[in-house]
Amino acid sequence: MTEQKERWGTRIGLILAAAGNAIGIGNLLRFPAQAGQNGGGAFMIPYVVSLLLFGLPLMWIAWTIGRYGGRLGHSSLPGMFDKMWNRPIGKYLGVLGLGLPMVFCLYYTYIEAWCLAYAYFSSTGQYISTPGSSVDLAVFYNEFLGNATSHSYFPSVYTALFFLIITILLNVWVLARGIVKGIELLAKIAIPLLVLFCIILVVRVLTLGTIEGSAWDGLAFLWTPDFSALANPNVWIAAAGQIFFTLSIGFGSLECYASYVREKEDIALAATTTAATNEFVEVIFGSMIAIPAAAIFFGSSQVQSIAQSGTFAIGMISMPEILRSFPGIQFFGTIWFLLLFFAAFTSSVAVCQPVMAFLQDEAKLKRGVAAAIVGLIWVLGTIPVIFFFKYGVFDEFDFWAGTIGLVVLAIVEVILFSWIFGLNKGWEELHVGALMRVPNFFKFIMKYVTPFALLAIFIGWASQARLTPNPRILWNVADRSNYSGKFQMDPPNDEVHQIQQSIYDEVNSANRDLTAWAEVNLQSDGNLQVTSYSADPHLEKVFDKSRFERWLKLQNFRYEVRENNGPPRMQAAQITIGLEALDRSPYIWLARIIIIGFFVVFFSMVAVIWKSRANGIKQGGVA
Ligand code: ALA
Repeated sequence: MTEQKERWGTRIGLILAAAGNAIGIGNLLRFPAQAGQNGGGAFMIPYVVSLLLFGLPLMWIAWTIGRYGGRLGHSSLPGMFDKMWNRPIGKYLGVLGLGLPMVFCLYYTYIEAWCLAYAYFSSTGQYISTPGSSVDLAVFYNEFLGNATSHSYFPSVYTALFFLIITILLNVWVLARGIVKGIELLAKIAIPLLVLFCIILVVRVLTLGTIEGSAWDGLAFLWTPDFSALANPNVWIAAAGQIFFTLSIGFGSLECYASYVREKEDIALAATTTAATNEFVEVIFGSMIAIPAAAIFFGSSQVQSIAQSGTFAIGMISMPEILRSFPGIQFFGTIWFLLLFFAAFTSSVAVCQPVMAFLQDEAKLKRGVAAAIVGLIWVLGTIPVIFFFKYGVFDEFDFWAGTIGLVVLAIVEVILFSWIFGLNKGWEELHVGALMRVPNFFKFIMKYVTPFALLAIFIGWASQARLTPNPRILWNVADRSNYSGKFQMDPPNDEVHQIQQSIYDEVNSANRDLTAWAEVNLQSDGNLQVTSYSADPHLEKVFDKSRFERWLKLQNFRYEVRENNGPPRMQAAQITIGLEALDRSPYIWLARIIIIGFFVVFFSMVAVIWKSRANGIKQGGVA
């Protein structure tokens, strides 16, 4: 016997769950990082254009497909696409809506686990510096993820693994409880808490006063447009990518959530409300916490480099650095990371639900069994993400599942909806039970503008994909916890790039990781000398003692301390530096094989299920 089709319990539950699906790390960290890296205020122009051309039309399309599929008994894309396009290929195209969310979950839950772990570290004061012992948060973060060769704060990645397993168990538990008692209940608790935490943090940041700068310097940085950025196509591509990621478009999860609405639910309004709530949290809260805090603590001159340091450096390095310098770190640090955790938690259950639904609706498994299978795949699939993080497995999953894949699925979906299912039929379907009317000009956008603009974005991204990855160079200072300041380097210049290229060539010809060690004497005037050096013979050929010293000098390698929140000051130090040049190719190919493997498995499952269904019909059964 199959289980009864599930439905959202209440309208408010639906709205909160849909908001939870969208609101995630993308809003609070990815958005300020993207805006900061892509022209500040000018980023908002391509951002709003992308919202209108891609975000809203694809939201409406996804909700329409979802409710339509749900009415016909399907909550995942193979079944939905099959009903929209009665050709064998329809259901196979729907496999995109299983493979992509599954791969996405593998790395996204890892971020979620970091947030949970850091909430714990904050509450126990684990990264608060005390007199005589200091924690370098960048090293702390990299060691936590196994992204460093040193072990000053974490002996291994097992702490991260522990938090990941807890996070996956929490996700599987919610999924196993089902739509109303699991996902909807989680949203009813998490979303109000999330808003409360945002308000507490905004108030905290706005009342920190002025140190190196003020909160307004941060807002000015984010909102002062650099119009020259608009000439750069990458800024437009980045804005579109942010819209996809933040609204959870192209995962099949919006369609899945919409499949649980009642038949006459106003989905035009529900989709619009979800997008509006997400945008409010993103644009208001996403820009009023991390970047203003960075401006206060580091000064406006540093904000740009912090924004450019990337999503995770803002969240996991700069924010705790800032918060621990003020009273109440245990409280505010915990709130900050719990905020990120809850935002990610409501998104990860949403993105995984299509796979659950597929196993339940199509493979006819009981919910508990489906959850156990998903949990097992989840744990096994994240193992390479954790253990080969430094080789870039995480980034590879993000590139294919969290960037390119979203656009591919969106292209398939918009063409299917506007050209194959039929725009007029789809438009009518969207408005069944709707009090809200979507303006008619969106029909033109859905039919012509969205598909062609998406193709252009896809070509832009695909042209950036590299089949063979460059090796990666990591360095670290041994016994890091003995030093109270920070070891810094400036970004590489052309000459450094040349030196690095010769290292890459050597790694590629050796086909393995190459290492080097050096004793370095750093003086407070910035002079440095390598007193002893040893390296793998392969590396020694292109990166000997004098080249190593030059490499450090070219990047202005230095040791800085900050006293009483004052400006950084140079200090002398005698240190040992370890260097690793990583051969990433085998791990990147492993990641690609895993991604392909997921698609092959889901593809085969769809083939077998539909075949056995067809056989059942032939023998007089019911489809
Ligand atoms: N929409 C989710 C986020 O923004 C995936 O993180």
